[in-house]
Amino acid sequence: MQGLDVQPETIDRFTCGTLRLDHADNKVTLKGWVNRRRDLGGLIFIDLRDRFGITQVVFNPEVQKDAHELAGDLRNEFVIEVSGVVLKRPEGTVNPNMPTGELEVEAHALTILNRSKTPPFYINEEVDVDESLRLKYRYLDLRRRRMTDNMIQRHRVVKHMRDFLDERGFLEIETPLLIKSTPEGARDYLVPSSQFPGMFYALPQSPQQLKQLLMVSGVDRYFQIARCFRDEAQRADRQPEFTQLDLEMSFVDQNDVMELTEQLYTEITEKFSDMTIQTRPFPRLTYQESMDRFGNDRPDLRFGMELQDVSDALRNTEFKAFRGVLDGGGQVKTIVVPGCGDYTRKQIDEVTDLAKQAGAKGLATMQLQAQGLKSPIAKFLSDDEITAMTTGIGAGEGDLVLLVADQPAIVAKALDALRSEFGERLELADPNVLAFCWIVEFPLLEWDEEGNRWDATHNPFSSYLPEDEHLLASDPGKVRAKQYDLVGNGYELGGGSIRIHDRAKQERIFELMGHKLEDQQDRFGALLDALEYGAPPHGGIAPGIDRLIMVLARESNIRDVMAFPKNQRGIDLMLNAPDLVAPEQLDELGLDIRQDAAQDARAKLREAAVSAAEAETAPAPDAPKP
Ligand code: AMO
Ligand code: AMP
Repeated sequence: MQGLDVQPETIDRFTCGTLRLDHADNKVTLKGWVNRRRDLGGLIFIDLRDRFGITQVVFNPEVQKDAHELAGDLRNEFVIEVSGVVLKRPEGTVNPNMPTGELEVEAHALTILNRSKTPPFYINEEVDVDESLRLKYRYLDLRRRRMTDNMIQRHRVVKHMRDFLDERGFLEIETPLLIKSTPEGARDYLVPSSQFPGMFYALPQSPQQLKQLLMVSGVDRYFQIARCFRDEAQRADRQPEFTQLDLEMSFVDQNDVMELTEQLYTEITEKFSDMTIQTRPFPRLTYQESMDRFGNDRPDLRFGMELQDVSDALRNTEFKAFRGVLDGGGQVKTIVVPGCGDYTRKQIDEVTDLAKQAGAKGLATMQLQAQGLKSPIAKFLSDDEITAMTTGIGAGEGDLVLLVADQPAIVAKALDALRSEFGERLELADPNVLAFCWIVEFPLLEWDEEGNRWDATHNPFSSYLPEDEHLLASDPGKVRAKQYDLVGNGYELGGGSIRIHDRAKQERIFELMGHKLEDQQDRFGALLDALEYGAPPHGGIAPGIDRLIMVLARESNIRDVMAFPKNQRGIDLMLNAPDLVAPEQLDELGLDIRQDAAQDARAKLREAAVSAAEAETAPAPDAPKP
């Protein structure tokens, strides 16, 4: 791994990270923030901090009286300028944990450039701070080492992406943020226009159609570090605005895009993280295989505990709960949890609750204890059946077998939840390993009960395997898309596809999705028309940059790799957005606000502001005294 924050040679001053013993006896000037002050009566020591590191400065009244006196006024986070001489630290005071730990700067002059109030949380220590407080004072939070490092890592990765793609003939092209609302995926953020009251632009959920249009323009290879906006519920790995490495290529097949991405992600992991890639080339799993083995389409391959199907051994079982499910076309699947065979009744109940929260109607358990099998359902099962559900699937003494019987989608969801829970509890995933994989052959369409129509599982522009074309008429749900998702350590890191480049084929897919031919021209007219003017075959991918950095930085929260994120409710606690606007602004836009809706919104915002304020007045968490 390369050093994260290398001091560039062209920076025209010394920083708090540059000095080494070679600089001994040099006269230097440093500027930065007071990280910590220690007043030892005679000598005053300051740890001076900037983005590049920390250097110890010593004020000695016998060397420079005025500077020493002024240093007595210094407090944490004051901004100062210090001039002095670099000295080798005396024997026994070397700090091997700091790159500058062998030296100190003996101060000859001190200027206080600015003072600071006591910050609302410790900046110089890695302590737990209430997140709303961190978000409100994000500019202070970003001064903390961990956050600074995340920003640096992000910068390095994005720069590498640009260089890598530039070397391979890609053009970086900006596409507009004010575009047209189209019905796909999440809800759009809308932007009203005063020139056209009552009309709205939409912010892009991704530059999907624009990048395809650029292929029709003959750009051939396009990329963009693209901001995307989606008005949807937030999660630990989701923000309303986020960044994609958006790219598109002409005259390629699925393999070309996947191999390029794989090479880029391998280089990035090797250069900018200390993680090891588990398997190269990245394993490729079909969607079906991933669902069967892991119960989801973004498996964490760092550990096993795979789902196993025991339906066949139970077809004739007398146990009604299982038999009923199997006769109704369902399945019985299981995971073997190592070493949890001695769980108490209470622990088993907790696990059962987890399964139920994930949608299971029940959870059956088998505990393989030294005294024998402990299971509430053993009495309903034959010896052969019990064998099939224990030793038959590799369970041994000390293990806990968890069984769910239901329709496949529910079984998958419940066992996926249990697998990740136990993966975490038992620390089965090596934090130093990055297990990338590709998921391919997704279904192109899924049935949308509510809308009574087919919907794209990913992207309405994805093409499909030619051998499945006949299924569009007979069994659309079985058509496999030329769609590929990049997965790493259980996160969906990116998705892409080979696109449809033929108007009639695209219209047919839109029709299955319930868009009448006349509406298609209004909603997707530009793209459909363009397909008739020499559109080349093309495809691409858009990996999420925030999620990649999250994984590389071992952060479990996407907000920690974004400079100014929104909180879980989509609120910017620092800028106080969203917010009301002046009545005149609404008037210009021709908008009236419904009062019932507005009241609700105000209540939500007030609640968020109150919780941030409460965190601010709460006593600070314990930290070593500054
Ligand atoms: P898709 O919608 O799958 O594909 O998004 C691609 C990748 O973007 C990231 N991502 C997000 N990251 C943070 N917060 C979010 N709310 C969020 N939503 C998505 C994920 C995801 O894998 N235009 C297509 C791509 C293509 O086909 O080329 C698209 O946007 O890492
Ligand atoms: P019951 O006969 O419903 O009281 O269930 C007996 C045992 O079977 C209990 O341990 C239930 O949790 C379990 N069980 C019932 N239904 C299911 C199911 N769909 N999947 C897994 N276990 C089940």
